[in-house]
Amino acid sequence: MTKTDSRVTIHMVASLDGFIARKDGSVDWLDTSDEFVGGDTMSPGSVEAFLKTIDCYVMGSRTYETALRFEAQGLGWSYGDKPTFVLTSRELPRTRDTVEFHSGDLAQFVNGRLRPKFRTIWFVGGGVVSGECLRLGLADEVYYSILPILIGDGITFFEKLGKDVALHLAEVKAYKSGMVGLRYEVRGHRGGSRTAA
Ligand SMILES: NC(=O)c1ccc[n+]([C@@H]2O[C@H](COP(=O)([O-])OP(=O)(O)OC[C@H]3O[C@@H](n4cnc5c(N)ncnc54)[C@H](OP(=O)(O)O)[C@@H]3O)[C@@H](O)[C@H]2O)c1
Repeated sequence: MTKTDSRVTIHMVASLDGFIARKDGSVDWLDTSDEFVGGDTMSPGSVEAFLKTIDCYVMGSRTYETALRFEAQGLGWSYGDKPTFVLTSRELPRTRDTVEFHSGDLAQFVNGRLRPKFRTIWFVGGGVVSGECLRLGLADEVYYSILPILIGDGITFFEKLGKDVALHLAEVKAYKSGMVGLRYEVRGHRGGSRTAA
């Protein structure tokens, strides 16, 4: 059974040319320095309040491995104490109780297991998992944060999508840091725009 008010969001940060990491997986370029006069600022309080609205995270194993590396370097764990589901067919180290591994049918997992239990479900990458999520028609919205940088090559926001997906632009926000946040609803989807084909 699907909880009618559950919402699956794909969110990642990307370069203007659409990459989420370099080919070797590195994300050193995320640390940009720009200033857009008149842009919004995100106070630590507003970020914290926003993160509280997220009920669980879903990620691919390579994204999880990056998160583990960050943690080992003393950069912390970005997903707080929220349940974090890692998609993998491998045996991976588990450093906290909130992490759970999953393999198998993704649609069955999202619709049968996550939607009945969680209202706000965030897919946080990487490109392979985001592509899979959209291809299977599981996403209600895409939250695309564009940083003021071009990196020329890398892992794309959606790897091997294989089909067109029509979107409805629902929100645009420009930040003082030069980042632009774009929120799109997936059209033709139960959570998307009614004008969808
Ligand atoms: N800029 C950003 O906001 C952002 C966000 C997230 C990640 N990243 C970066 O993106 C890179 C990783 O992205 P990626 O596209 O290479 O990989 P990914 O999507 O994180 O992980 C892909 C892997 O997840 C496993 N998987 C995927 N679907 C599955 C399913 N249905 N069931 C079971 N396992 C499944 C498979 O690995 P196995 O089965 O072999 O384990 C697959 O190779 C990293 O460098 C990370 O730092 C950037």
